Amino acid sequence: MEGREGYGVPNFSWVLVIVLIVIMSMTDVCVSSPRRNLLANGLAKTPPMGWNSWNHFNCKIDENIIKETADALVSTGLAKLGYIYVNIDDCWAELVRDKEGNLVGKKSTFPSGIKALADYVHRKGLKLGIYSDAGYFTCSKQMPGSLGHEEKDAKSFASWGIDYLKYDNCNNDGSNPTVRYPVMTRSLMKAGRPIFFSLCEWGDMHPALWGAPVGNSWRTTNDISDTWESMVSRADMNEVYAELARPGGWNDPDMLEVGNGGMTKDEYIVHFSIWAISKAPLLIGCDVRNATKETMEIIANKEVIAVNQDSLGIQAKKVRMQGDLEIWAGQLSRYRVALLLVNRGPWRNSITAHWDDIGIPPSSVVQARDLWEHKTLKEQFVGNLTATVNSHGCKMYVLKPIS
Ligand SMILES: *[C@@H]1O[C@H](CO)[C@@H](O)[C@H](O)[C@H]1NC(C)=O
Ligand SMILES: *[C@@H]1O[C@H](CO)[C@@H](O)[C@H](O)[C@H]1NC(C)=O
Repeated sequence: MEGREGYGVPNFSWVLVIVLIVIMSMTDVCVSSPRRNLLANGLAKTPPMGWNSWNHFNCKIDENIIKETADALVSTGLAKLGYIYVNIDDCWAELVRDKEGNLVGKKSTFPSGIKALADYVHRKGLKLGIYSDAGYFTCSKQMPGSLGHEEKDAKSFASWGIDYLKYDNCNNDGSNPTVRYPVMTRSLMKAGRPIFFSLCEWGDMHPALWGAPVGNSWRTTNDISDTWESMVSRADMNEVYAELARPGGWNDPDMLEVGNGGMTKDEYIVHFSIWAISKAPLLIGCDVRNATKETMEIIANKEVIAVNQDSLGIQAKKVRMQGDLEIWAGQLSRYRVALLLVNRGPWRNSITAHWDDIGIPPSSVVQARDLWEHKTLKEQFVGNLTATVNSHGCKMYVLKPIS
C-alpha cells in the first residue's frame, strides 16, 4: 500500500441505524425492553475459548471423543492457555424425549449420560458445553429441539452441570428469533447455574443489534467452511458489527477451522489473527487429539491469544483498505494498539499503517512487537509502520507508544 491513496472503509453506522429501524418494525421485543438485561450471568468478560465438535466430527461423536478431547486439551497445554470449554454440538441426544419429556443422551454413543461426562470434564478443570435448537428439531433432525421445552431443558442442562449452551435456529415455527431466543435466556436464568448462552441465529436478523441482553455471544454469519473464501467472507460480515461487541457479549463469526486441512499455514495464521483481533470466540474446530506441530504453533500462540483476551474487549475494525491490502486495528488496554496487516491478493506486497488511521497520536514514537515472529523490533517507529506481507498472509503487532 503506497502513499495515502487508500480509501477509507465506509462508515457502517448508518447501515446499522437503517437495519435497526427495519428490525424494530418487525418485532416488538426490542422496542418494549431494549435495555433490560435478561442474561445477568456475569460470564464472558473476555471472549470464550475452548473446542467444539462440529467442524471436524459433525454428527460422528461419542463420549470417548469428548473425554479424549478433554484429556488432550490438558496434556497439550491448551487448557492452561485458556481453552476451557469442551462443547458438544448437534447429535448428542435421543430423537425421542423420555416419559417426563426430558432430553436424554443417545444410548448408543453417550451410554454413561451427559451428567457423567460433565463430571469427567469438571474433574479436569474444564467446562462442558452442549447444544440445542430454538425449533422443533435440531439441524441434523437427529434430536429434538427445545422450542416449547425451554424451561425443562434448561433445568436438565443445569442439573447435569452444563456450563455453555449453543442454541441453533433450524426447523423453527417461523416466529421471530427475537421472540424465541429470550425464552431460553429466561429459562437459563431460572435454572440456577451460570450457563454461557451462545446465540446461533446465523446473523439472519442482525442479532448484534438485540443480542446483548439475550446472549453472551451471537453468530453474525452462516456456517464457516474450511476454505480461504469462506473464512475471509465471515471475517468481513462480522466486522460490520464491531462497535456492538463488549465484555459480556461478543460477535461470533463461527468456530475455527485451523488444523482441518483446507487452508495453507499462512491462511490459517490469517484466520486465527483476524478472529483474535476481532474478539471472536476462540473455539478450536479440529481434532486436538492429533493436532500437528504446525496447528499447535497457531492456536497456542500466547501473544495472539492475549490480544483476544485483552480486558478492554474492543473489537478491531478494518480501518483502511486498498484493493486486496487491509489494515485492521483496535485499541488494547494500557494505551496499546493491536495492528493486523492482511494481504488478500495473489502477490507479496508492502503495506503501510499510518498512526492517524489506527488511533495513535501523530508524533508518538512507537515500539512494535511482532506477534508471529515473537520479537520486539529494534527499530522505533514514528508516524507509520511498513511491512512486506505474503499473499494470503499477515503481520500482526502490538504497538506501544513510548513517548
Ligand atoms: C487421532 O487420534 C485418535 C485418538 O487418539 C485416533 O483414534 C484417530 O485415528 C487419530 N486420527 C488420525 C487421523 O490420526
Ligand atoms: C513514514 O514516516 C516517515 C517519518 O517517520 C516518513 O519519512 C515516511 O515518508 C513515511 N512513509 C510513508 C509511506 O508515508
